Order: sequence, then structure tokens, then C-alpha cells
Amino acid sequence: MGVPVRRFDAVIVGGGGAGLRAALQLSESGLKTAVLSKVFPTRSHTVAAQGGISASLGNVQEDHWEWHMYDTVKGSDWLGDQDAIEYMCRKAPEAVIELEHFGMPFDRLENGKIYQRPFGGHTQHNGKTPVQRACAAADRTGHAMLHTLYQRNVRANTQFFVEWMALDLIRDADGDVVGVTALEMETGEIYIFHAKAVLFATGGAGRIYSASTNAFINTGDGLGMAVRAGLPLEDMEFWQFHPTGVAGAGVLITEGVRGEGGILLNADGERFMERYAPNLKDLAPRDFVSRSMELEVLEGRGCGPHKDYVLLKLDHLGPDIINQRLPGIREIAIKFAGVDPIKDPIPVIPTCHYMMGGIPTNWRGEVVMPKGGDPESRVNGFYAAGECACASVHGANRLGTNSLLDLVVFGKSAGDHMIDYIRGEMPDWKPLPADAAGPSLARIARLDNQTGGEDVAEVRAAMQRTVQSRAGVFRNAANMALGVEEIAAVAERAKFTQIKDKSKVFNTARTEALELDNLIEIAVATLVAADGRKESRGAHAHDDFPHRDDENWMKHSLFFGEGRRMEYKPVHTRPLTVDYIPPKERTF
Ligand code: FUM
Repeated sequence: MGVPVRRFDAVIVGGGGAGLRAALQLSESGLKTAVLSKVFPTRSHTVAAQGGISASLGNVQEDHWEWHMYDTVKGSDWLGDQDAIEYMCRKAPEAVIELEHFGMPFDRLENGKIYQRPFGGHTQHNGKTPVQRACAAADRTGHAMLHTLYQRNVRANTQFFVEWMALDLIRDADGDVVGVTALEMETGEIYIFHAKAVLFATGGAGRIYSASTNAFINTGDGLGMAVRAGLPLEDMEFWQFHPTGVAGAGVLITEGVRGEGGILLNADGERFMERYAPNLKDLAPRDFVSRSMELEVLEGRGCGPHKDYVLLKLDHLGPDIINQRLPGIREIAIKFAGVDPIKDPIPVIPTCHYMMGGIPTNWRGEVVMPKGGDPESRVNGFYAAGECACASVHGANRLGTNSLLDLVVFGKSAGDHMIDYIRGEMPDWKPLPADAAGPSLARIARLDNQTGGEDVAEVRAAMQRTVQSRAGVFRNAANMALGVEEIAAVAERAKFTQIKDKSKVFNTARTEALELDNLIEIAVATLVAADGRKESRGAHAHDDFPHRDDENWMKHSLFFGEGRRMEYKPVHTRPLTVDYIPPKERTF
């Protein structure tokens, strides 16, 4: 019997913020739209976003989208594409007001306007003074946003396929994308989703690290599928370490804590960020704060019996602010750190949080790749948005709260451009290639029949140890070169994993094995790209090349799975309507 085929105008892979925002646009326009999600959509990782969504509403102090744009370009260490950054920052106020009108329950100021709090790197007058730009729903902003978008999609008749895992992208002989294969996790059946256009919104891949704020579902499935389909990944050397993960547990403590006035202390009780960033202090961008924390630990001023963390103090905010603005943080601190922050500081360490790189796209959400001399040729029928995409608005370091903004701005933009493509260029379905499900069926058959290989969990742990130890906050040439060798060996082992006890297997074991295929592609891309970049920029702090080198390295990296080779392409330095923001030294 053949593989069953389902047909939709548009197929969205991923039910988080970006996927739901794009789906809403498509469904409301009358196109038949499917969302495939490994989990119930409101359990997607967007739900874990805490501190806010940035927009220059100016509800508390004067603010302008041009200042937001400047902060984002500077935050990105001049690797972000200025056309995409302009688009995102200019659209931000409209995007947040739209969410408000959708019913998103933001916190309010006395005058009824949306509450905004300070966040790292958010400033007035291009870096002069901090500004309150992060629009917040307590410390559960992602939760509020995701539920709002889900409800709007239900109203718009988006069709949800819950607990379905996309396996492979289907490209035809022209290289155009015509669908995906997917596993129904409950039954183990494979299906083909035949589509006029496909959007990947599969989120991050923080699970390549052993310590991560990311959910277990964040296994970079979209990136793995893209690499297997011959597409490159952009800027994979840049991983953000959030300064405040709970030490030993990895759970996120929002930057909103520092936005509300929390401070970082070393073992001497010193507010050390005053030394590193005299102007913005604890609210410098994340790459900067994470490096400062690591230095405190490396120089012997860490706290605790092993002197390996610093403290986040917020008791001085008082119980009212903590309970009203940071209730989730109090709960997390009590449960995961065993301290009540109303009385005691929280032990924190920099923890892998966000992937700045991803599937290369432009600001329209179209996936692009080098072809025929053009570094940015469109892949027909293929779109990506959110963390899995690299637009690139975050460059070498993302500013806090620009991720929720990225989801809604580029989710909507991708949805709009998919509508144009479907209605204008693709009124009918292109035929599926013969054996469209062949590669996916072969992967499943290998897993089901493999004997004598290693357990998935063992290989996954080896991958995580390698990435954690070789691609951390500080990097050096010798360590990264070792990492490249080690991850190649782990990738070999991953080809022969087996599901050991088949008598007890449910499809979760299969799912984990398939996820490992995706994680491994990303771990390899990370180490090869990191080893390749001979400078320090944003989150890539290279001990042997401690300075940014704009002359040679102001360019995006592209990793190709075949041959594990790197190419590079220029940064878009030209914004859409305003003047270029030239590079300068990044001090705070
Ligand atoms: O700290 C936080 O609340 C995280 C926000 C973000 O990653 O944008």
C-alpha cells in the first residue's frame, strides 16, 4: 500500500508563536492551512518566554523605532542584516497593538496602557540611557501570546495535526519545495503532506548542549530537514548564553528580574557589572553579561562550595513587586534552586538559551541559498520564521525580547508572502516526485531493524558533552579543533543507534531517535562554523582572536552538510529606508 497523501495549500511545521502567526494570516485569507506540531500547540516552547516583547511604544518614556533599530544592530555586533532589522523594529509597535487587539492580556500601567519594563541593551538616544521597551504580561509573556494566537487560529479554522513529527522536506527536480513527510506519533504511520508552500517554524535546538533553558522538544528538526535536503545553515557558530539560568538546573530566570531592579553579586558581595559595563551595568546585552559572569568565576570570585556560580539578588524589590511582576520566577526559584527570592538570592550561571543562526531567509520569510552566482536565490515554495530561521535580525547576539517580536513580525510577513506566492505563482499543486517518502521510510526502517548499535540516549549525551565543552561562552582554536573531530566521531555513532528494548517501544523511542538525527546535524554545523570563524564577535568569544575583525569577518557563514564545508556571504548593510548604521566599538 502506498504512503497516504494529504493536500493543503500551506503546511506549517511547528505550532509556536511564528507558526501560529503565519497560520493565522493564511487561514484568515481563506487558504487551506495545516499546522503540524510534536506537542499540543500551547505547549510549544514559546510558552516559556518570560520577560516580554520589545516595541518602541513609548508608554513609559520617549522611544522611537530608530533607537530600537540602533540597539538591535549594536546588540548583533554588526552581523545583523540592517534591512531585516529595520523591518522588524519599524513593525514592532503595530505588531504589539495587534496582539493587544487579539486579546493578549498584557500588564497595564495606571493609565491603562501596556506596561513596559527595562531589558538588556534597550536604550534611548542610541545607547545613552536605558529605556522601558519590553511589553510584558508579568513573567509569562510567551504563555499569554501563545494562547492568544492559538485561540485566533481555532476561530480561523486552521487545521491542527497534534503530535505529528515532520520527518523530511520534499523537493522536486527543480529544487522547489512541494511538501513534507510526517510521522503520526500515536500510530507510527507515515504520511505525505503535499503543499503549494511550506513554512518551517520549528524553533530552536538548544538541546545540543547539556545545560539549556530549552524544552526537550527543541531538537532543531527544521534545520536537520533543511540540511538533509541540501540547504545550508547560516551563522551556526552563534549561540546565546542567557546570563541567568538556575545553577545546576538550567531553568530560565528572566532578564526581567534585572529589568525590575535585580542585581548580580559575586562571592565578595560586589555588584561586579558596574566594573564591566559602567553605563548599563546588569542590563548590558547578554553576551557581555555572560562573559563577565564567567570571568568572575574563572578569577575565583564565584559563589558556593565550588565557587562556580554568582548570585541574583532581588529581595530589595520587596514582596509586592516580586509577587505582582515576577510570580513565576519566585515559583521557579523555590522549586529549582530551593530559595525564596523574597528573602534569598538565586544561584545563577550562563546557560545555553538561543540559536542566532538557522535556515537562511530574507525579511519576507523566503528561504534563500546561493545559486548561479546569486548568494540569495529564493527556494520556491519554502519559507521559515522564528528561531529556526536566520533573517538575520539577531546577528551575533540577540537582544532580550526581540525573539517574541521576531516570531510575530516575521511569522506575519512570511504568511503574507506565502499568500502572494500561492495565489500568484502557484495556483495548483506541483506534482510530487516519485518515491517522495523514500528517504523517510528508509530512516524508519533502519531504526526498526538496526541491531548491535548504541542506545540513542548514550549517543545524545556524548553529543551534548562535546558541544558543551567545546563551544561554550569562551572558545579557543585548540578546543574547537578537538570539538570538530569529536563531533564527527559522535555523528558516526549516531548512524548506528538502535532502539534497544523493542518489546517496550512506543513511538516516543522512535521520535527520540529521529530527533537525534536532527540534533547531530546542528551540533556538527555549530562546531565546524565556530572553528571556522577567526575573530571574536557577539556570542563567539575566541581567545586566540580576541577582537572583532570587520575587514575580514563582517560576513555570514553558511554550513553545507555535504562535505561539511563552509561558504560565506555578505551582511546586508543597507537598511530599507534609513541610513546605514556604521560599525563601532561595543561598550556599555
Ligand atoms: O529573560 C527573558 O525573559 C528571556 C527573554 C528572551 O529570551 O527574549
